Amino acid sequence: MSTSDASSTMSTPPLRVAVIGLGSIGGVAAGLLQAAGRHSIVACVRRPLEHLVVERDSGPVDVPIAALTDPAQAGPVDWVLLCTKAHDTASVGPWLERLCGPATRIAVLQNGIGHAERVAPWVSADRVVPVIVYYNGERLAPDRVRVRTVIEQDVAVANDANGRAFAELLDGSGLRVLRDDHFVLRTWRKLLLNAVANPITALTLQRQDVLRRDDVHALCLTVLAEAIAVGRAEGVPLADDEAAQAMAVLYNFAPGLGTSMYFDRLAGRRCEVEALTGAIVAAGTRHGIAMPVNRTLLTLLRAINDAVDDKPAG
Ligand SMILES: NC(=O)c1ccc[n+]([C@@H]2O[C@H](COP(=O)([O-])OP(=O)(O)OC[C@H]3O[C@@H](n4cnc5c(N)ncnc54)[C@H](OP(=O)(O)O)[C@@H]3O)[C@@H](O)[C@H]2O)c1
Repeated sequence: MSTSDASSTMSTPPLRVAVIGLGSIGGVAAGLLQAAGRHSIVACVRRPLEHLVVERDSGPVDVPIAALTDPAQAGPVDWVLLCTKAHDTASVGPWLERLCGPATRIAVLQNGIGHAERVAPWVSADRVVPVIVYYNGERLAPDRVRVRTVIEQDVAVANDANGRAFAELLDGSGLRVLRDDHFVLRTWRKLLLNAVANPITALTLQRQDVLRRDDVHALCLTVLAEAIAVGRAEGVPLADDEAAQAMAVLYNFAPGLGTSMYFDRLAGRRCEVEALTGAIVAAGTRHGIAMPVNRTLLTLLRAINDAVDDKPAG
């Protein structure tokens, strides 16, 4: 396992980088890469913008940003950073068709598992770089985001050639990259946290303090036990005390913290259900594992999403 940060060797030549989705995560990545000034950054967005402010713990940075609003304006780039919600991946197909050449790598900065499968129609798996995002991003306005450091790394990637290339890409941005030899295990550990905290906060419309109730704690342990059985069936070496570890991590977060599903539900937006609980239930079904609690959560969250889709626009 190794960590790279702004002090790593700045060995790569300037690259063309397209960031799709300038929300909480993409806004931070695009703004900090632009501020680093090493690469040519273009944002692929639905509404034009000319500059971007990233509020960091160390102070704000305000950078000009090149933005395209029509995929027809785009051409092949060296890197795509895909930063939409997982359920919006299909909608960015026209961008990916224009941006991806034979040598393009796609870093998928999305929660869940199955990153390569999501972009399979546009790029082969060997050019996909799944990225676990640990920093907390918050979009304050279309041209303003806030980044908060949560743990000692900001993102994690596999410790392979693609992961190393991604770490080099971020050199100078201030984002700290962990390269992990056990990336799949790390991905599942993040999935377990999300599989508990996101559905329960979204369904109860309460922040993470709800997880501290005794009855909800017991529910969390059941959700985790089912998900851990699925992960193990997938060949992921989850530990004997995995559920306890996951709850300890969650209890380490401030009780007033929300989750992305909670905020999406509050805002009347679709929740990122399929990449999290949906992925666990799909994998468990393939392995014939009973997952009554995760199935129940999935059913309820799908009903919420369907109601969002059925809501008249405006
Ligand atoms: N936020 C966090 O702290 C955090 C932490 C860890 C992981 N994650 C994960 O990171 C991923 C991104 O989450 P987020 O919080 O950044 O979401 P977000 O704030 O909702 O941003 C998503 C962005 O994608 C854009 N988008 C969607 N469809 C598009 C399309 N067809 N063309 C162009 N842009 C499109 C949206 O644009 P519009 O503005 O036009 O709607 C929005 O700006 C998710 O998988 C999330 O679970 C987030």
